[in-house]
Amino acid sequence: MDNVAKLEIDGKSYSLPIAVGSEKERGIDISTLRQSTGCITLDESYGNTGSCRSNITFIDGEKGILRYRGIPIEVLAEQSSFVETAWLLIYGRLPNRKELKRFSDLLTQNEMLHEDLKFHFEGFPAHAHPMAILSAMINATSCFVPGVLDAYDPAKFELQAARLLSKVRTIAAFAFRKSRGLPIVYPKPAFKYTANFLHMMFSDPYEEYDLKPEVVRALDMIFLLHADHEQNCSTSTVRMIASSQANIFACAAGGVCALWGPLHGGANQAVIEMLEDIHRSGDDGSKFIVAAKDKKSGRKLMGFGHRVYKNYDPRAKIIKEQCDKMLRLLKIDDPLLDIAKKLEEAALHDSYFVERKLYPNVDFYSGIIMRAIGIPLEMFTVIFAIGRMPGWIANYKEVMDQVGGRISRPRQIYMGPTEQPYVQIDQRIKK
Ligand code: CMC
Repeated sequence: MDNVAKLEIDGKSYSLPIAVGSEKERGIDISTLRQSTGCITLDESYGNTGSCRSNITFIDGEKGILRYRGIPIEVLAEQSSFVETAWLLIYGRLPNRKELKRFSDLLTQNEMLHEDLKFHFEGFPAHAHPMAILSAMINATSCFVPGVLDAYDPAKFELQAARLLSKVRTIAAFAFRKSRGLPIVYPKPAFKYTANFLHMMFSDPYEEYDLKPEVVRALDMIFLLHADHEQNCSTSTVRMIASSQANIFACAAGGVCALWGPLHGGANQAVIEMLEDIHRSGDDGSKFIVAAKDKKSGRKLMGFGHRVYKNYDPRAKIIKEQCDKMLRLLKIDDPLLDIAKKLEEAALHDSYFVERKLYPNVDFYSGIIMRAIGIPLEMFTVIFAIGRMPGWIANYKEVMDQVGGRISRPRQIYMGPTEQPYVQIDQRIKK
C-alpha cells in the first residue's frame, strides 16, 4: 500500500505522508500542509482529525473493540481490578506484585485531604452540583500538595499521580456528604480503593456501611470500564491543558468540567432522568422512541449512539450483564430496567436507529447499577470522573514525556466581518 497521499490545490500537486498505526489505521500527516500550501484543514468537531499519536488505548468502533494497552476490555473486566488497570494505563504494562503493592500503598498514604480543605467544602451551598465541587476542589487540593506547581518531573510523577487518584475519591465522597448535610467520614487505610470510597460515602459515625463484596466488585468494574477511552472530549481537554505545561491537578480539573456535559459523562444521569420521566408518564417507551426520532422534539434517546462505536459499545455489553446480576443478587426489582430493556429492543429494530448505527453505550445501563447501589443521581457523573482519572493521568504523562512537544493550538476559518471602521457612539444606528 502506498503511504503517500496526493493533494491537488489550484492545479498544483502536493505529496503528504500517511502515518500508519500499530493496528494499521492510516492518517494523512498534514503537519507541513499550511507551510507548503497556505491552506489549513477544516474539521468541525474533529470527526476526522487525529490529534496525537498515542500508545494507550485502541478502539475499533466498527468492530466494537476496546483495548487498554493492547488488553481487551472484556479480559480486564473479568480478571483485573480498577487500581491494577490504572497502573496498566499509566505505565503501559501490567504491574508485578511489588509494583502493585507499592502503588496501592501510595494510594492509601495519600487518601486524606488537608484538614483545612474541610472549610472549602463548607463554602458551597447545599444544592451545589458535586461535579462543580469536584472540579473546584481538585484545583483547591493542589494548593495543599507540595510540589504540584513545580515543572513536571518524571521522578515525582508516581507520587503526584497517586495523590490525584487517591484524593479524588475522598473529595467525591466528601462532596456527597456535604450536599446531604451529613458528617464527613474519613477514609480507612484497611480498605482498598473502591471499598474505601463506598465506606466514605455511606458509613455513619455510629454505624459502618455493610460492604457487600458484590457491590464493591460492581462499582470497581464501573470504574475500570470508564478508565480510558482515547481522545474523547474530556481527555482531549486534559491533553490540551497539559500541552501548556499546566500541572496534573489543573489538567484533571479541566477534564472534570468537560466530562460534566450531558453529551459526554453527564449522559449517565440523563439516562436515568429519561427513564424516570417515561415511567412517571405511564409510557412503556414507545412514545419516547417516536419523540427521539423527531429532531423538533428536542429529545434524544440518552445512552444511545457514540461518535466512534458504530456497532456495539463493548462496555455496554459487560455492564448490561453486570446489571442483571446485581439486581438479582440484591433482589431489587427496578421498573426502570424493564423500560431500558424495552427501549433497547425497540431501538435495535427501528430503521432510524439501525440506519444511523445507534446502539446502547456505556451509560445506558451503568445508571441502573449505581441506583441499585444507592448512589444518588447527581453523583453518577462524579463516578465516571473517578473512573476516568487513570486515563487522564496516562494521557497527561504521554504529553509531558513527549520530546519536543508543542502547545496545542488549532487554527480556524474566520467568517466574521472584514476590516471595518470604529464608529463613534453618537453616530451609531439607534435600535
Ligand atoms: N437519539 C436520537 N438520535 C440520535 C442519537 C440519539 N441518542 N444520537 C445520534 N442521533 C442521530 C443524530 O441526530 C444524527 O441524525 P441525522 O443524521 O438525521 O442528523 C445521527 O444520529 C448521527 O449522530 P451524530 O450527531 O453524528 O452523532 P455524534 O457523533 O455527533 O454524537 C453522541 C454522538 C454520543 C453525542 C450522540 O449519539 C448523543 O447525543 N447520544 C446521546 C447522549 C449520550 O448517550 N452520550 C454518551 C456517550 S458515551 C459516554 C462518553 O464517552 O461520553
